[in-house]
Amino acid sequence: MSSVARTTIDAVEVSGRTVLVRVDFNVPMSEGEITDDSRIRAALPTIQSILDRGGACVLMSHLGRPSGSGFEPAFTLAPAANRLAELLGRPVNLPSRDCLDESSVAAVDSIEAGGVILLENLRFHKAEKKGDAEFAARLASYGDLYCQDAFGAAHRADASMVAVPEAMEGRPRTAGRLLEAELRYLSGAIDSPARPFVAVLGGAKISDKLATIRHLAGRVDTLVVGGAMAFTLLRAMGHGTGKSLVEESMVKEASGIIDAVAATSTTLLLPVDFVCAGSPAAGVKTTVSGRDIEDGQMGLDIGPGSVEVFTEAIRAARTVVWNGPMGLFEIPPFDRGTLAVAKAMIDATTAGATSVVGGGDTAAAVNDLGLATGFTHVSTGGGASLRMLEGGPMPGVEALDRA
Ligand code: 3PG
Repeated sequence: MSSVARTTIDAVEVSGRTVLVRVDFNVPMSEGEITDDSRIRAALPTIQSILDRGGACVLMSHLGRPSGSGFEPAFTLAPAANRLAELLGRPVNLPSRDCLDESSVAAVDSIEAGGVILLENLRFHKAEKKGDAEFAARLASYGDLYCQDAFGAAHRADASMVAVPEAMEGRPRTAGRLLEAELRYLSGAIDSPARPFVAVLGGAKISDKLATIRHLAGRVDTLVVGGAMAFTLLRAMGHGTGKSLVEESMVKEASGIIDAVAATSTTLLLPVDFVCAGSPAAGVKTTVSGRDIEDGQMGLDIGPGSVEVFTEAIRAARTVVWNGPMGLFEIPPFDRGTLAVAKAMIDATTAGATSVVGGGDTAAAVNDLGLATGFTHVSTGGGASLRMLEGGPMPGVEALDRA
């Protein structure tokens, strides 16, 4: 993936122009409240840069996965508009329940320099997910130029990501500051890492990370695997896994992946012990087991021996990327492994390493543990950062590279 062809928003004159900006305001919500506004904060540098230079912003985003047959209150972007207005210290206009109706068109027509409009959830139209060209052409009519800043959705080929920039041929199509930063850190880490280069993978399912393991094998010096996904690998090696989460259908595949990594220069580090309990609940009696877990017990976090081995490798790294928690971090004491990995990454960063934390669950974990600062970069993309670690297609970026 080349960054050579991309024009950045800062390289383009925006004074007196309306910039159609694709942001990713797909933020976690609970009972109508935003529980983590990181993605809105991360969009501020681009929005502020446009406003400071005399431009106006028409922002477009999706939120969640509505049915696509019109307005649904549970998926309104109104809370995001309010939060953005607070953060910017200026009004943000959410003109109507439909990004294409007369009110939205009229609001865009009358926008002035310094104005900010947030269009209602694009996915209230099925056409957004379908990548529909006619829908895209109508959105494209809202801007004098396009800015792509939705890194979190860059692995999607939705209309606003691909068909809108295509429909804006002849007008500048630019990358926002967030998109540029995400690509710089993620592709920089993978394509030209300072070594030793360590990747830490965790989370529940090996099936979600198989492509990542295959892509990183031979590229990283050390591949650390924790989280429940390790149990499928250990089962494939013949270890007892008790009641731990194992993806039975993936055991054969897991065996193949172990052999595939072994055939490369990458060292695979698996947990040597686990914190176990009879059930995944707070306050339960815990024990520490070696690699073989007794029947009736489930591994819920990596154990102290694993913490030692993993953190030693991480502290020695010059580049470290991390995607996926080491255990059930939401329920103490099963957060210790994840906490130890996060702290070791911060130590490595202090010592001069580049550290990149994948978005989604991993960013949520470091936020919950109160550790969001201290890394070189915490990605706003869950699926998108994983797609980059897999070396897979990024339609939202490729659309700009073709521009
Ligand atoms: C995300 O949260 O990963 C992005 O906003 C993409 O959302 P989606 O998985 O619903 O397409």
